[in-house]
Amino acid sequence: MTTPLTQGDISAEIADEREAYAKRVADGAPVENHPSRGYAPYRSSVLRHPKQPLVAVNGDPEAVELTGPAFGVTDITAFDHDLTRQHHGEPLGERIKVTGRILDREGRAVRGQLIEIWQANASGRYAHQRDDHPAPLDPNFTGVGRTLTGTDGEYEFVTIKPGAYPWRNHVNAWRPAHIHFSLFGTAFTQRLVTQMYFPGDPLFAYDPILQSVTDESARARLVAAYDHDLSTPEWSLGYRWDIVLDGPAATWIEEGR
Ligand SMILES: [Fe+2]
Repeated sequence: MTTPLTQGDISAEIADEREAYAKRVADGAPVENHPSRGYAPYRSSVLRHPKQPLVAVNGDPEAVELTGPAFGVTDITAFDHDLTRQHHGEPLGERIKVTGRILDREGRAVRGQLIEIWQANASGRYAHQRDDHPAPLDPNFTGVGRTLTGTDGEYEFVTIKPGAYPWRNHVNAWRPAHIHFSLFGTAFTQRLVTQMYFPGDPLFAYDPILQSVTDESARARLVAAYDHDLSTPEWSLGYRWDIVLDGPAATWIEEGR
């Protein structure tokens, strides 16, 4: 029988990875804005990344993009960006507004971009059949939203602050509160997936998914800022989070480069 992995085991591995990264950078290696595909402390990542070199698409890659589906304006309805108004009643939890801009590497706005989010409810439970841990579902919260960026690349969601939830990477493993983001780009081949975190979460240091981004400033870019001017009196708290698609200020994306 194998001994169950403890948080201490995982935290020691995270510290080793961080130390190895600091040494690489000190020796002149470039800053790593994206995690490696296999990050041992995040156990399942080791099992599911490609082990062979990626296969190049034959022919003209732009032709592939032209014939594939793209998602956009026609996929959005009026309530899609407000996750608190998708059912008859109001969901439980702390109502929040999350807004920001999608920018390219030159700081230019990326407009008309379909953004999708998904998240756990205030109790840390996903409305998904594979999430059966003992936290309550909320009949008034599905946890899925979509919107398009405006002319300045801005987006806005109204939702509920998600709760932390347990997962089975090791004993007593808990994910910090987070919202999953997916950007669809202008073609099917351009989908980007990432996660937004909330400032000051005490679980950051324990979470091998966040820590798989070994560079401290790259990790910091995944954390939204509380913005008091975005908070609405008697109604909701405001958070601001920009996504930079490429370049030195890039937001980490899953399935890195
Ligand atoms: Fe999640």
